[in-house]
Amino acid sequence: MKALIASGGRGTRLRPITHTQNKHLIPIANKPILHYALEAVAEAGVSDVAIVHNADSLEVPNFIGDGSRWGIRITYLQQERPGGLAQVVQLAEDFMKGESFMFYLGDNMVVGGVKRFVDEFQRSGCNCLLTLAKVHDPERFGVPEIRDGKIIGVEEKPRMPKSQYAVAGIYIYDNHIFEAVKTLRPSARGELEISEAHQYLIDHGYSVISTEITGWWKDTGKPEDLLEANRLVLENAVPRRDGEVDNRSEIAGKVIIEPGARIVNSKIRGPVMVGRDCLIENSYIGPFTSIGDNTEIWASEVEFSIIMKGCKIHGVGARIEGSILGNDVEILETQAKPRVHRFMIGDQSRVEVA
Ligand code: G1P
Repeated sequence: MKALIASGGRGTRLRPITHTQNKHLIPIANKPILHYALEAVAEAGVSDVAIVHNADSLEVPNFIGDGSRWGIRITYLQQERPGGLAQVVQLAEDFMKGESFMFYLGDNMVVGGVKRFVDEFQRSGCNCLLTLAKVHDPERFGVPEIRDGKIIGVEEKPRMPKSQYAVAGIYIYDNHIFEAVKTLRPSARGELEISEAHQYLIDHGYSVISTEITGWWKDTGKPEDLLEANRLVLENAVPRRDGEVDNRSEIAGKVIIEPGARIVNSKIRGPVMVGRDCLIENSYIGPFTSIGDNTEIWASEVEFSIIMKGCKIHGVGARIEGSILGNDVEILETQAKPRVHRFMIGDQSRVEVA
């Protein structure tokens, strides 16, 4: 069994963060999303992994490296232009050399690992295993039609979904998938759709089985998905206190404080993660917040947010909530008169003020 991980695309729904950072490298609980996929395939015993990335950027290869830190071997394949997930599969045909493989969308996160999917694929002898997750908005995804427990069709982003399930971005195939992806034509959104490849397998009598993801699963395509994934990972984190907490501070619930971080006269109510060398002073940090390394929060309140590395939040009057701050962002109280909001914000940013 090999693995193919998709890390291309433009991440348009996550702008402005994705103007300067590949969406697969956005941190969830202070760890890049892509690390979760790599950990999962390594843990499933897969050691030969191809990652498809945008040809115009070496960000992913430079950041992820050769895979040795996970005990796997990574080969990088370039995609010239985002042309859909079925195109990503096409690019990997030579790499697979006829072996079965797991196709893992690098922006998907699942709890509990993927080994049981590999086991089920092998036990069943099927040609394709799809993982399904029950969702309240199936029209955003590939949606299966199920009859008597069997998948009889898959539609991409249907207006009238035929079930409550999304096909999650973790698939396992034998080499017949390459026959399927060769037959496809671009869809209305100009992509070779993976759902159409699944439909081809079904129509041509191949065995396509499914298994339900019963824990949580998230496609981190939108800002609210990032916050929700962050919440879920933090909820399952194991508390640790390697940094310094002074005796005027109060720490409650699951809180991880990394080495070099200092908590001074502050209240932290977990689940919260405070990165290395952060300073939290005279502040309140509320549940489901992760704070990247070297960030400074002073006389401010932050809750249910993702704050990346090297940020400065100083003396902000209102509580910051449901927010995502990229790297090196500064939000500061101004001393200047008149008292005004002054912004220095890049393209496609969003600010809400009360
Ligand atoms: C893609 C697939 C879709 C699948 C989803 C899972 O959607 O096309 O079938 O359900 O990933 O994350 P996209 O991210 O392109 O909207």
